Amino acid sequence: MLVAAKHRRTNRLFSLANAGFKVPPQVLAFDEDSAPHWDSYKESGGQTAALLLQIARRYFAEGSPLRVLDWGCGPARVIRHLPAAFGPQASIYGSDYNPATIKWCIENIHGVSFSVNDLLPPLPFAADFIDFVYSLSVFTHLSESVSHRWIDELRRITHTGSILVITTQGDSFLDKLLPDEVDAYRSKGLVVRGKVSEGKRIFSAFHSPRYLTTTLFRNLEVLELIPGTSSSQDMWILRKPP
Ligand SMILES: C[S@@+](CC[C@H](N)C(=O)[O-])C[C@H]1O[C@@H](n2cnc3c(N)ncnc32)[C@H](O)[C@@H]1O
Repeated sequence: MLVAAKHRRTNRLFSLANAGFKVPPQVLAFDEDSAPHWDSYKESGGQTAALLLQIARRYFAEGSPLRVLDWGCGPARVIRHLPAAFGPQASIYGSDYNPATIKWCIENIHGVSFSVNDLLPPLPFAADFIDFVYSLSVFTHLSESVSHRWIDELRRITHTGSILVITTQGDSFLDKLLPDEVDAYRSKGLVVRGKVSEGKRIFSAFHSPRYLTTTLFRNLEVLELIPGTSSSQDMWILRKPP
């Protein structure tokens, strides 16, 4: 309650100081059930877009006409910054399974082609189409079988040498797990809190690095792992091999 009241105050100040910056309806922000905080929506989105550009520059020549996809883009926290960050030579695509979110994105965010997908694949792209796909905190809300379907789909729409950036909840979330969940995380490497609708924010999945490299990401080349700290997500930078 106190946090919501504090956010109301700072959000009012944010709107005054950022008159041209459209924010999504509260119900869509951060997947519906977290109090939105526009300072952090704008700042974290811009910082993540800059990080994604740095990553892209490590693997593609500057100025490459990249096709970039944000799969599970939500209400555009990150993707809204991509047209400016990546420049006019890049084509930017965003997709999410929440039609209300994508409707808001289409009406308010320019320079991006948006589409709705279902909980299960496919995406509306031909095989090999995408050069750089990122998915931030999406596999964290999916079951094991659905995750496998999506990894296969991301492999289908990318080509040899494409880069995939995926975030997951790993070791830095161990202190959030119950004792039996810690045991499952250590033995199987996967914990799914799945007693709610899949894809929703409170459907939560935790993946150990060993599980990911031996199971979900086994057909991808792991280029980098940026481990999360203090409950921030691990970031995996992967490449589709030949
Ligand atoms: C925690 S939010 C993250 C949103 C965004 N990636 C960000 O970092 O701001 C999780 C997002 O995943 C989306 N999502 C969940 N399941 C999905 C699926 N099967 N396909 C596409 N998007 C999905 C939700 O609608 C939500 O927008």
